[in-house]
Amino acid sequence: MSTYKGEKLNIEIYGTSHAEKIGATVTGFPRIKVDTNYLNEVMKRRSPSSGIFSTKRKEPDEPIFEKGLNNGVIDGDFEVVICNKDVKSSDYNSLYAKPRPSHADYVRYLKNGEKDYRGGGEFSARLTAPLCVVGAICKQYLFENYGIEVLGYLSQVGKVKGKSYKESLPTKEEIKKSYCEFPAISSSKEMLLEIEQASKDGDSVGGVVECVVYAPPTAVGGSLFEGLEGKISNIVYSIPAVKGVEFGLGFDLSAMRGSKANDPLRIENGEINIVTNNAGGINGGISNGNPITLRVGFRPTPSISVLQDTVDLEKKENVQIRIEGRHDSCVAVRAVPVVECAVAIAILDAMLGEKNQ
Ligand SMILES: Cc1cc2nc3c(=O)[nH]c(=O)nc-3n(C[C@H](O)[C@H](O)[C@H](O)COP(=O)(O)O)c2cc1C
Repeated sequence: MSTYKGEKLNIEIYGTSHAEKIGATVTGFPRIKVDTNYLNEVMKRRSPSSGIFSTKRKEPDEPIFEKGLNNGVIDGDFEVVICNKDVKSSDYNSLYAKPRPSHADYVRYLKNGEKDYRGGGEFSARLTAPLCVVGAICKQYLFENYGIEVLGYLSQVGKVKGKSYKESLPTKEEIKKSYCEFPAISSSKEMLLEIEQASKDGDSVGGVVECVVYAPPTAVGGSLFEGLEGKISNIVYSIPAVKGVEFGLGFDLSAMRGSKANDPLRIENGEINIVTNNAGGINGGISNGNPITLRVGFRPTPSISVLQDTVDLEKKENVQIRIEGRHDSCVAVRAVPVVECAVAIAILDAMLGEKNQ
């Protein structure tokens, strides 16, 4: 079980990859009539059953509300479950006591002596399904009540770079159009080739997901531990395989001079505007009104069929393994809606925590 204790929202995500079911219990959610069509749309993007990026593990990921949904309305606390239907534990028989390099297998052994790694247990990306249910409802709430939209897209796959907000902010329409097939705004073909090539080689590639919060709330967050970047990163880092998060120009700012990095203020038509957005919409941990922009770096999928060195924890000897089974060659592709959902949870919770909300 993994627990998020937020300002107002508390979320517990439970279950394992090969358990009968996984789920989430949530407390403190504001009143909302759940749009099930929208919820299913988001869930489908995380786990498409057909198309170029259908997952090899076929899971309908149908959320069932066990508690807290009355006449379609949530008001406070709820519990949602998703059944694991397409479990194939035999894929992991040959891996017993042989931790997959860079997966969570070895640290799981260090923590509780576990040597059976079927499906990655509670570290599996299956657990992002309940996270997406909660996040999708947050996305709906943010849009319906404040017009805030949290949208993501793939900006890089392996060495192939596509459109980035660092050059120019994409329009919401550009991003939404990309959801039909492959979630990148440009260089889709090249990205697909990069993934196909890695897959043919029995290997995997990483990627970068960019996320933009359009029409964000202003003046949300605070100094030090209250900072909005920290609140967002906290949930984004809960997504498996995330190894980096940067806001605005992020690490590029370190190579710039202040005179180029600073975002000037100007009054236009009687309104104060921040002219550029190098800071990604947050200064001093507080949202400044510009779109919040962030980049999330995903590592290549750890489970690959290229021969790798590991150890046999029972025999205490060096061994080599080849990981077969139904693994994504680039986890960043299916992670796009997961990033949106994680960011939406953080933004809504930060807003609910503001004294004037
Ligand atoms: C949407 C998604 C799908 C994933 N699919 C796989 C997979 O098929 N095989 C795998 O080894 N890892 C997969 N991962 C990544 C692992 O879960 C992750 O690398 C592992 O739990 C170790 O955590 P860490 O990379 O954050 O250290 C996936 C991650 C995400 C977000």
